[in-house]
Amino acid sequence: MLVLGLETSCDETGVALYDSERGLLADALFSQIDLHRAYGGVVPELASRDHVKRMLPLIRQVLADAGCVATEIDAIAYTAGPGLVGALLVGASCAQALAFAWGIPALGVHHMEGHLLAPMLEEQPPEFPFVALLVSGGHTQLVRVDGIGQYELLGETLDDAAGEAFDKTAKLMGLNYPGGPEIARLATQGVPGRFVFPRPMTDRPGLDFSFSGLKTFALNTWQQCQQAGDDGEQTRCDVSLAFQQAVVETLTIKCKRALKQTGLKRLVIAGGVSANKALRTSLEDMLASIKGNVYYARPQFCTDNGAMIAYAGCQRLAAGQQESLAISVQARWPMEQLAPL
Ligand SMILES: Nc1ncnc2c1ncn2[C@@H]1O[C@H](COP(=O)(O)OP(=O)(O)OP(=O)(O)O)[C@@H](O)[C@H]1O
Ligand SMILES: [Mg+2]
Repeated sequence: MLVLGLETSCDETGVALYDSERGLLADALFSQIDLHRAYGGVVPELASRDHVKRMLPLIRQVLADAGCVATEIDAIAYTAGPGLVGALLVGASCAQALAFAWGIPALGVHHMEGHLLAPMLEEQPPEFPFVALLVSGGHTQLVRVDGIGQYELLGETLDDAAGEAFDKTAKLMGLNYPGGPEIARLATQGVPGRFVFPRPMTDRPGLDFSFSGLKTFALNTWQQCQQAGDDGEQTRCDVSLAFQQAVVETLTIKCKRALKQTGLKRLVIAGGVSANKALRTSLEDMLASIKGNVYYARPQFCTDNGAMIAYAGCQRLAAGQQESLAISVQARWPMEQLAPL
């Protein structure tokens, strides 16, 4: 089954072709980062309008890259939520219109299920069951995964997502959007131990997170440095390192706890923050200490992309899941509401 995947939940237009027999045939992405940079974050209406411009050229591009023609496509998967409602509607209408024109089915996919399953596109995919840490711009969740659509939420952030905390901390130091890769880059030059940030909610039981306090701690630290006239590049690097270490250690402690609680030894990390090298190293060390394994996607499939939507959609379409031609997207959509396969 050849599935065309369309991702438009936020500020990336992602398109991919996934074949159930041959695997991923092609994927293409247009990132709107330059469009939104001047505003320090995503402007929803600009995002929607740009998706409209990019979608059809990207579909033509992946067809050409894969050496396929449109008549070979068996079904279309698109992101139906959660995300920016205008941006989602672009992908949904495009998918339903093409599906109607081509006489094939279309299926709305949950964006976070897409992220969660992205490591399945790698050479050594994890087997079920596993614990998944979803760490993205809008989510920080620990989920027990027993199969596709069999999700038990173990814990989640009570306020900011980890990626959001990276972005906000970067912004307050005048760094570019998105802040995660910027902080990670500066952290490599940071002096360890100059600043020590708290590890929120690690001193009490449970698997929930809270990252808004870390962002405030970063703001106070940065403002004190500014008042002392010590707000140069080295201080940015030192704050970045201290902040990153706090996020990484906090996530690692909670992942270890989730594995212990579930008795599992497989951990999947997904979403944009799972591209962070310090996080990967810390989790690999922790999993090695309990003789377990950590799985993640290649960096370009950690952030938003069409491949993960094509893959997730393919699994559900191949299992016979169907929907009507109605165009319906959801800005908020708890993953536990998904039907098990
Ligand atoms: N190397 C990195 N280190 C830390 N954070 C990173 C890194 N690379 C990307 N990020 C962060 O990942 C986030 C983007 O990830 P992703 O595209 O998965 O999120 P999103 O789609 O905006 O949110 P969601 O998937 O929850 O709707 C941003 O917050 C970005 O700063
Ligand atoms: Mg995302």
